[in-house]
Amino acid sequence: MHTTLKNKTALITGVSSGIGREIAQLLAERGARVFGTVRNPKSASAIHGVELVSMDVTEDASVNAAVQSVEQQAGPIQLLINNAGYSFMGALEETSVEEARQQFETNLFGVLRVTNAILPGMRQQGYGRIVNISSVLGFLPAPYLGIYAASKHAVEGYTETLDHEVRRFGVRAVLVEPAYTRTKLNGNTKIAKVAIEAYAAERKRSTETTLQNIERGDDPRMVAEAVWSALTAKSPRLRYPVGKGIALSRLRRFVPAGMFDRSFRKQFQLD
Ligand SMILES: NC(=O)c1ccc[n+]([C@@H]2O[C@H](COP(=O)([O-])OP(=O)(O)OC[C@H]3O[C@@H](n4cnc5c(N)ncnc54)[C@H](OP(=O)(O)O)[C@@H]3O)[C@@H](O)[C@H]2O)c1
Repeated sequence: MHTTLKNKTALITGVSSGIGREIAQLLAERGARVFGTVRNPKSASAIHGVELVSMDVTEDASVNAAVQSVEQQAGPIQLLINNAGYSFMGALEETSVEEARQQFETNLFGVLRVTNAILPGMRQQGYGRIVNISSVLGFLPAPYLGIYAASKHAVEGYTETLDHEVRRFGVRAVLVEPAYTRTKLNGNTKIAKVAIEAYAAERKRSTETTLQNIERGDDPRMVAEAVWSALTAKSPRLRYPVGKGIALSRLRRFVPAGMFDRSFRKQFQLD
């Protein structure tokens, strides 16, 4: 029996598939009032117990209208899960500034935009819990996913600082760090428009490994359980690595840099 989130309102971004959908289901099953955002309400399939709201995290007006509509229906939001995101593949030299800007527009500025719309309500009620879905690529490098990794590293720095700034208002900000997880992330991946021949063979090997790892990845329910822990802990930790991410997080911290570098390059079959 879960009573911890009864009478709490949660807003989760990006519930049309994958991790966001699983989080929405789990929180609704366990008694929270759940609002989940989708970009296309017409094509989105219903989730039992979850109220769908239209939102594109890259647009101020869309975010403000969605937050306003939820607050009008349910009052101030207590729980925010910033989950919406996509991945971008290509060598960094193949990545244009515009492509990088779009990646950050969703993965970082989207988080900033939604959080800033919700924080006034959280400050007013003196309570809030914000969970940002980062990735193991928020603390590891990722060949041919460099701009995605940079956006997740940025989410890590953003969240750690936010947690210090808002703690005095009763608000905590934490990170959930999934490893490879079986979702639609592969299908929604954007690819760099420019392809430079010098990177072609290694890019192919490395991206094939990544795509396969996602297909064989963790069950998104594991991420939802980690979000649940982050939302319900009395004193939350800053980071909640998930599944294989737990071992990776320890390796990153405790294995000497040279050894880590060698084993990392081998794993990604880098020349
Ligand atoms: N799968 C993994 O291996 C993995 C590992 C670590 C971290 N993550 C992170 O987990 C989060 C969820 O990804 P997923 O794996 O569940 O992938 P997914 O199945 O592709 O789901 C991504 C969700 O984000 C939404 N979204 C994308 N851009 C948006 C925007 N501009 N505005 C609003 N919503 C937007 C999508 O909605 P639409 O239907 O509107 O496109 C979709 O609901 C992401 O932040 C991702 O980086 C995933």
